[in-house]
Amino acid sequence: MTRKIFLTTALPYANGPFHIGHIMEYIQADIWARFQRMQGHEVHFVGADDAHGAPIMLKAEAEGITPRELVARIAAGRPQYLSGFHLSFDHWHSTDSPENTQLSQAVYARLKAAGLIYVKSVEQFYDPVKGMFLADRYIKGECPNCHSKDQYGDACEVCGTVYAPTELINPHSALSGAKPELRSSDHFFFRLSDPKCVAFLKEWLDAPGRLQPQVANKAREWLSGTGDKALGDWDISRDAPYFGIPIPDAPGKYFYVWLDAPIGYLAALKSYFDSGKARMRGERRSFEEFLGAADSEQIHFIGKDIIYFHTLFWPAMLKFAGSPFKVPDHVYVHGFINVSGEKMSKSRGTGISPLRYLELGMNSEWLRYYIAAKLNGSIEDMDFNPSDFVARVNADLIGKYVNIASRAANFITRQFAGELAFAADISTLTAAAQALTASVGDAYETREYGRALREIMTFADSINQNYDAARPWVLAKDPAKVAELQQVCSRALFGFKVLSVLLAPVLPELTTRAATELFGLDVPFTWADALVPPKSIGTYQHLMQRVDPKQLDALFGAATAAAGVAKPAPAKAAARANATPAALSIDEFKRVDLRVARIVEAAVVEGSDKLLKLTLDLGTEQRTVFAGIKSAYDPAQLKGRLTVMVANLAPRKMQFGVSEGMVLAASNDAPGLFLLAPDSGALPGMRVS
Ligand code: MSP
Ligand code: ZN
Repeated sequence: MTRKIFLTTALPYANGPFHIGHIMEYIQADIWARFQRMQGHEVHFVGADDAHGAPIMLKAEAEGITPRELVARIAAGRPQYLSGFHLSFDHWHSTDSPENTQLSQAVYARLKAAGLIYVKSVEQFYDPVKGMFLADRYIKGECPNCHSKDQYGDACEVCGTVYAPTELINPHSALSGAKPELRSSDHFFFRLSDPKCVAFLKEWLDAPGRLQPQVANKAREWLSGTGDKALGDWDISRDAPYFGIPIPDAPGKYFYVWLDAPIGYLAALKSYFDSGKARMRGERRSFEEFLGAADSEQIHFIGKDIIYFHTLFWPAMLKFAGSPFKVPDHVYVHGFINVSGEKMSKSRGTGISPLRYLELGMNSEWLRYYIAAKLNGSIEDMDFNPSDFVARVNADLIGKYVNIASRAANFITRQFAGELAFAADISTLTAAAQALTASVGDAYETREYGRALREIMTFADSINQNYDAARPWVLAKDPAKVAELQQVCSRALFGFKVLSVLLAPVLPELTTRAATELFGLDVPFTWADALVPPKSIGTYQHLMQRVDPKQLDALFGAATAAAGVAKPAPAKAAARANATPAALSIDEFKRVDLRVARIVEAAVVEGSDKLLKLTLDLGTEQRTVFAGIKSAYDPAQLKGRLTVMVANLAPRKMQFGVSEGMVLAASNDAPGLFLLAPDSGALPGMRVS
């Protein structure tokens, strides 16, 4: 029976470009989607940007643009990653869309009608200068337990104590520095603790095979917590100013971003159906009909940090919103990718920039293969290790797999005009192929990609061993052994075809070339092709280059020197940029007064082809700085932006005037220059330390 699968990955926040963690998740889901399509199943694979929430609003404000402008800029950057890593989303949408507004308001109305929404007054810190309520992460103060200064409003990073922001000693707003006031405001709550919600969730979590056991256990723990850990109701509203979807009949109230974000999955699917693309995939029903149908499956791939939202709130919302909404069939959770054993920061990403990977001309299928080899069905973290990456790709992909074709195809092309011939009985080979195909298929289905690739490479080993043992290069010298030579090479090429089909979900580009150039098909492989012995081949053309370890030096070197440097740099230059000068004491460093500054004016300097004249606002004063950044920036682009300046540099008399400081920018030997910008929330005058 053809499965009808609605498949999603978590919706990435639209406040920055994709990092390697996003790409890892998309590769995992993409392999699964491709595997299902190869089986002939109908897959509707959609994604979207998660556009709403306070961080995006504040980041846009810091850049002097509207949230919609920020989100549009981020969205414009998405396609190069999606195509660059062969991620076969059928559609990419946004939570800031008419579909999502309509669906979120509709779900809310249903929940309200079901008696699951109530209003309660909540006392919360309010920033009188910014004129807004402050989420915990925008409040800082002294830890009530260990008295460390400058701790966030939810937990102390020094002693680990968790507390309410109101317990902080001398709290201040991280946005304005102002002393926050306690104010009360009405909030809307979703009654998750309602017995009917709890009963439903128990049943949903217990469905066999729905969730990974570790995931279901975690969720059950939250569900059955008591005392301090009891399952609370969910605060789903935020007060203006907020970038989000208005709550109907509640002026100044917006849905909390985590309410409309998962509904964004449905909004993306709706927009995809309305665009006619679902029809092109053979689905003739409308969005509503498909969504509510008994034969459609709803499957989400997510990371382990957002299990709570996806296994409690989300199924409960869907359940009590009623038809055509339907609860998720599966939520498949993966662990995090760390790089060389280091956790990556959510805001800065890791040492690996996926964009730089592509710009260096590195083959995206190497990364797909490497990540797949490390993935399994558990939620354990994985590590990206550069030397391991080089070893696996070169040893497995090139050494074991690609080599089979390059060696065997030459004999067939030169001596047999491309014709293959098999001995009367190839049942051993077909039986092995059949068993392998079944086992690897099962591994893909259960996301045990590491096992799939291990089994594939073991089969490649046996093909290589049989080929070598037959010594075709010796057979080629003996006219009496011509038929045997042809059979030996034919078997190797059949083996290569089996391997190619089974690797197709991971290596779509390479295997499509194998299918068309070598095996003469006019479409990419389907799963069933694995068991069809090829009759002839076209001329072998080189399929894949080895990884040069220098490429990894370049990938890592520049990433540490300046995150996101746009131009590829030669490995040597990158290594130099990476070298650190002699050690500096903390006291020497503290003498450098680094401040956040807003560029209020930027102008070209008559007679200089390098300099721009910047007027920088430090909150308390303005400075004039001449910066050598004309080659990289259009002055109009700079106005309103925040950057970082050295505020206590001795004033310097220049040909065009006095420069009262210096702005910071990243560069290396390659062309390109990149001004530093603080993370969202920073304000002019803030000290950088
Ligand atoms: N916007 C929310 C998701 C809303 S879904 C309705 C969000 N966005 S995110 O950009 O922070 O994360 C998107 C996905 O990337 C999540 O599944 C998250 O787990 C995943 N990852 C973020 N960092 C990661 C790694 N280092 N490794 C693997 N996945 C990681 O959360
Ligand atoms: Zn503390």
